[in-house]
Amino acid sequence: MFDVEKIRQDFAMIKNNPELVYFDNGATTYKPDVVIDAVNEYYSFYNSNVSRGEYTIAIKADQAYDNTRKLISQLINCHTNEVCFLANVTACLNQIAYGLSKNYLSIGDKVLLTLAEHASNLLPWYRLQKDIGIQIDYIPLDNQGNIDLNEFEKIFDKDVKLVAISYVGNVLGNIQPIKKITEIAHKNNALIVVDAAQAIGHLKIDVEDLDVDFLCFSAHKMLGPDGVGVLYGKYNLIENMEPLILGGGMNARFDKQGNVIYKEAPYRFEAGTPNIEGVIGLAAAGEYLMNIGLDNIHQYDIELKKYMIDKMKDLYNVEIYNPDNDSAIVSFNIKDIFAQDVATYLSTRNIAVRSGNHCAKILHNLIGTDQSIRASLYLYNTKKEIDYFVEVVSKTTLEDTINVFL
Ligand code: ALA
Repeated sequence: MFDVEKIRQDFAMIKNNPELVYFDNGATTYKPDVVIDAVNEYYSFYNSNVSRGEYTIAIKADQAYDNTRKLISQLINCHTNEVCFLANVTACLNQIAYGLSKNYLSIGDKVLLTLAEHASNLLPWYRLQKDIGIQIDYIPLDNQGNIDLNEFEKIFDKDVKLVAISYVGNVLGNIQPIKKITEIAHKNNALIVVDAAQAIGHLKIDVEDLDVDFLCFSAHKMLGPDGVGVLYGKYNLIENMEPLILGGGMNARFDKQGNVIYKEAPYRFEAGTPNIEGVIGLAAAGEYLMNIGLDNIHQYDIELKKYMIDKMKDLYNVEIYNPDNDSAIVSFNIKDIFAQDVATYLSTRNIAVRSGNHCAKILHNLIGTDQSIRASLYLYNTKKEIDYFVEVVSKTTLEDTINVFL
């Protein structure tokens, strides 16, 4: 059974900041004690590099590092050699765009994006537009960021080679029907790249069932450490993909004439000393989430979101941009007050939210504003916190937000 009070006991941040209402989980999540302990244990008992040492603690570090690959392969249902550890989703998407520019995309090819994408799933493709002359087109969305599959199907033509899309929008929390989108993309001979930054740790993700070609996520948004991202790619697509970063650990051989032979995937994408403690902590996070159950977490997300929307929808001073989407993100504004001033004021009331454009800098073309306040909830948040939040929001005035600065 999902027991939020029990879950809260697992988080040092909650124990150490009992007054803080942390609603910025879309930016990063708290880490449970098991994750902190795993990192601590590595540094305290077997701190060494990986894939380089023959001594006992180095082998233990190798095993722990490899164990995470196994754990992640179970979490998303793929083979271990399809799990590549990079720095974050941004690094993964840059790697994919670069790799595809070398062996798949060329001048005139079309990449389909949406207006709701985060910068990390736009800028790498914009660079290819400049560098190799790909074309970019935007998939039509409704005003809460959702795709109409019939409309989607209509925009394919023979030039479309790739769809790159977020599973869950980071502002509108729109959950895209990735399985159906993938079916349509494949029917039209296009590949699909999924940015799962806001989906991981919230939804059960089965890449085999979804049949996506690439999918990426960051550990820190699923209770894991910062600085680790996972790039999943179907093995036949990543085995010959050109790595973006070259150096130690990723090459099999090279000579003084400059001939380089890369290691096989996933190692060819992991140049340099990796974020070892981050990868080890990620396994603890994955295990923690699987023990609770991703379906249970998603159900709880929906419960919290509905609870919050029900309480906020009748507030005269609030405009909500995504009332109907089923993820635990609520984006809104308080009428006539600048979003960042509201966030600063909320901080004086012990509430942490994100405000601004949330790195989704073309989303204003869809929702008509580039400033909003985002409350993003997670498994340790409670209805009591929502009650407090809504009460504060309902009473927030322009004067309150000005007084913060006086
Ligand atoms: N991408 C993260 C967010 O949406 C940082 O807040």
